[in-house]
Amino acid sequence: MPTFTYTHNAAAAAAVAAAYDTPPLAYVRSYGCQQNVNDGEKLRGVLLDIGFGITDAPERADLILFNTCAVREHAEQRVFGNVGALKKLKEANPRLIIGLCGCMAQQPQVVEKLKKSYPYVDLVFGVDGIDRLPALLQKRLEKGRRVLETSPERGAVVEDLPIRRDSDFRAWLPVMYGCDNFCTYCIVPYVRGRERSREPEAILAEFRALLAAGCKEITLLGQNVNSYGKGTAAGLDFAGLLDLLCQEPGDYRLRFMTSHPKDASHRLIDTIARHPQLCRHLHLPVQSGSDRVLAAMNRHYTAAQYLELIDYARKTIPGVTFSSDIIVGFPGETEEDFEKTLELVKAVGYTQLFTFIYSKRTGTKAAALPDPATHADKAARMARLLKIQEERAFPAIAALTGRSERVLVESAGRMAGTLNGRLDNDLVVEFPGPQSLIGRWARVRLTGARAALLTGELETE
Ligand code: SAH
Ligand code: SF4
Ligand code: F3S
Repeated sequence: MPTFTYTHNAAAAAAVAAAYDTPPLAYVRSYGCQQNVNDGEKLRGVLLDIGFGITDAPERADLILFNTCAVREHAEQRVFGNVGALKKLKEANPRLIIGLCGCMAQQPQVVEKLKKSYPYVDLVFGVDGIDRLPALLQKRLEKGRRVLETSPERGAVVEDLPIRRDSDFRAWLPVMYGCDNFCTYCIVPYVRGRERSREPEAILAEFRALLAAGCKEITLLGQNVNSYGKGTAAGLDFAGLLDLLCQEPGDYRLRFMTSHPKDASHRLIDTIARHPQLCRHLHLPVQSGSDRVLAAMNRHYTAAQYLELIDYARKTIPGVTFSSDIIVGFPGETEEDFEKTLELVKAVGYTQLFTFIYSKRTGTKAAALPDPATHADKAARMARLLKIQEERAFPAIAALTGRSERVLVESAGRMAGTLNGRLDNDLVVEFPGPQSLIGRWARVRLTGARAALLTGELETE
C-alpha cells in the first residue's frame, strides 16, 4: 500500500505566525463515527503543529472547523444548521476562518451548495486532506480567497500525522480506511474511498506508544476490520493482527469495530476466546432479519448464517455480549420482512442496539428503489423494535446483579458523586466513588440496573 508520511510544514507555520499577533485558537467539532472522531484528533494535532492553540469555545476561536458525517440526512442537516448559526460569529469577527471537512465535504453537491449559499465558509476539504490542511490554510491566509475543494482519493495511507487525543486512557487506533462493500443504502464507500490497510508495523508502533503512555483501552477501527490486510506487504489478516498485538505485555483491553458478519469467521471468534485482553463483546451489525432485504442491501449473508455465528460465539466465549445496527424501513421492507427483524432481535438478545430509520443517500443504489412506506409507518416500526429490544435486554442486564467486575472508570456518572465504569462486555455501571478514579481500573459489585445502565458499589481490589 503506498504510504505518505506527514512532515511539518514550516512555510504554513510561518504564514500562521505572520497572520496573528498572538497564537490563534482553533475549535474542531467532529460529527460522525469513531473514525471521524479520530480524524478530528488528528486535525487538532496538525493545527497544534503549525502554531494554533485548541479551544472548546467556538466564540473564542480564530478558526472553526466542522469535521462532518454524511451517513444519514439528519447528520447533514445538523451540520448545515450549525454552519448557518456561524454567520453571526463571522459578522462579529470578519477575520474568523470557517472550515468544513470530513465525509460531507467529499460530495460534490455539498461543496456546490456551500459555494453558492454559504459565502462565509472559507475552507472546504475532504477526508483525504488532513495532512494538506497546513497548505490549504496557508493559501487562505496569504491569498485571502476561499479554498473549496473535495480531496481526490489518493489510494494511499498517511502515517505519522500529529495527534491530540481526547483521552489519555482510551484511544482509537485505525487499522484500515475506506470500504469496498457497497451496501446499497450506504454512502461510506463513496466518501471514504477504497479499502486501504495500514502495515502491521505501523499499527504495532502506535499501539506500543499508547501502552507506554499508560493507555488502558484501545479500540481498533475500520469499516470492516475483517477484511484487514488486503494489499499490505505483510499479508497478515485481522485475526493474525490481533494475535500480534496481544503479544504485547501490559494491563490493557483491546476492542475493535466494525466486524461485517459476512467476513466474521470462527477463527476470529477463537482468537477472541484465546486472548484475555480481547473484550468479550462483539458489535456485529445485522441491519435486517429478512433474507430478502439483506440481499437487496447487498450484505452477503442470511439471517440463519448470522445466527450460527452468534451461536458459535456464545459457545466459544463465555459471557460474550452482542450489539448491532439495524435499519428500519429499507425501501420495499414489508411487514413480514420487519417481523423477521423482530424475531432475530428476540433470538439474539443484544445488550445494545443502534437503530436507524432508512435515509436516502444520493448516489447509492437503494436511492433508486421504490419506497412506498411513509415516514409515519417507519417510525411506528421503530417504536415496536425499541420496545422488543427493551423487553429482551433489560432483564438480561439486570440478571448480572451480584457479580463482581473489573471496570475501567471513564467519567463522572449522571448522579452527583457517581462514576461510570465500562465492563469488559461493554456494559456501563454507575457507582458512587471519587473523581480521582477516572482513568483507572476499579472493582465494582453489581447491585442492580436502571434500564441499560448497571448500578454498583466500589470494592477494594
Ligand atoms: N461499516 C459499518 C457501519 C458504518 S455506518 C458496518 O458495515 O457495519 C453505521 C451504521 O449506519 C450502519 O451499520 C447502518 O446501520 C447505518 N446506516 C448506514 N447508512 C444508512 C442509511 N442510508 N440510512 C440509515 N442508516 C444507515
Ligand atoms: Fe457502509 Fe456496508 Fe461499508 Fe459498512 S460495510 S461502511 S454499511 S458499505
Ligand atoms: Fe459518517 Fe463518514 Fe463515519 S459518513 S459514519 S463520518 S465514515
